[in-house]
Amino acid sequence: MDVKIALLGAGKVGQGFLANLRKRREQLSSRYGITFQLVSICDLAGGSIISPTGLKISEILPILENNGSLVEYEPSGQVCVKGMDVNACIEMSHADVVLESIVFNQETGEPALSYIRKALGLRKHVVTCNKGPVSMHYKELTSLAKANGVRFLFGGTMMNGTPVINIISNSFRADEVREIRGVLNVSANYILWAMEQGLSYEEGIKEARHLGYLEADASLDLEGHDSLAKLVILLNILTNGDFPSHQIVREGITQITSRDIGLGMERGLRYKMMVGAARSEDGQWQGQVGLQKLEESDPFYNLDKTRNALLIRTETVGDIYLEGPGAGKIRAGNALLSDLLSIYAT
Ligand SMILES: NC(=O)c1ccc[n+]([C@@H]2O[C@H](COP(=O)([O-])OP(=O)(O)OC[C@H]3O[C@@H](n4cnc5c(N)ncnc54)[C@H](OP(=O)(O)O)[C@@H]3O)[C@@H](O)[C@H]2O)c1
Repeated sequence: MDVKIALLGAGKVGQGFLANLRKRREQLSSRYGITFQLVSICDLAGGSIISPTGLKISEILPILENNGSLVEYEPSGQVCVKGMDVNACIEMSHADVVLESIVFNQETGEPALSYIRKALGLRKHVVTCNKGPVSMHYKELTSLAKANGVRFLFGGTMMNGTPVINIISNSFRADEVREIRGVLNVSANYILWAMEQGLSYEEGIKEARHLGYLEADASLDLEGHDSLAKLVILLNILTNGDFPSHQIVREGITQITSRDIGLGMERGLRYKMMVGAARSEDGQWQGQVGLQKLEESDPFYNLDKTRNALLIRTETVGDIYLEGPGAGKIRAGNALLSDLLSIYAT
């Protein structure tokens, strides 16, 4: 089977996806009989390219990895159209699946939201790693996908390849999730750890940025918007609706001082940026995002600076603890590929 893919966003995650696909293409073809063909790629500054016969990832990826622009791609003996806007690429590329990995606006979810709507409306499957549209418009987008007979998958929106979305979505049909609690933002986790090592808040931010842990808009991480969006996605799945994010108390790490960290450490306490939500007897969920001082007995106390974790407490099975790496473009790209395969590899 030939599957045509359009990629929106050729940043860290987009490149991670292309690297994974290039590495695994032969294996996927022999294991599942699927040949994935990249027919379109769009970037904001770098423009866009469409080729009905397929773009050469082995030629495009080095350009992107060297901070080059898509316009530099000069394929030999290939029909290739450059410079269309994103909507035109979605329409004209004949892609079966649109992979979306662009940044999100926390107020609107745009422009990704409109691109996803367009692709689903054109009966194309959509795989995204972008938290904005999934946290803000879950019900609409899942319904739109259903109405058009296509899939809308978003396993890459959190925990970088740890299959938490799949588990929350599919594994508790005969059980009831009562509570979720976790550390879902690696930047905050890293900065708090750096402060324990003696760095100031600003120095911690600088290191986190240098290591590529911070979103392009750092306030998403530091003010708790990223953690909030991830918690809302989990609650959207658990409630099968759009969970009202304004009902969740949100606090970031912007107020923490080295003195707070030091005083905590003197008492054997460690600060972590936590998300949490619990379901009351009447079925209502209450959630919060913010700093917590943890005792050594807490399962998250020793969570490594670069890792994420989620504790799922269910009525019948009890406590399930999932932990995995919190960052890395190759892993995030792998999450996109994994969702892609769950559409086609049966
Ligand atoms: N990095 C991670 O580890 C990770 C993990 C999971 C999920 N995510 C999510 O994945 C998404 C992408 O993250 P990233 O780290 O890859 O970000 P990034 O490196 O900043 O890349 C974002 C890409 O989107 C492009 N873009 C922005 N606006 C666009 C538009 N209107 N039309 C077309 N392209 C547009 C940017 O183009 P220009 O470069 O030209 O501006 C850039 O290539 C974000 O939503 C992020 O939250 C990231």
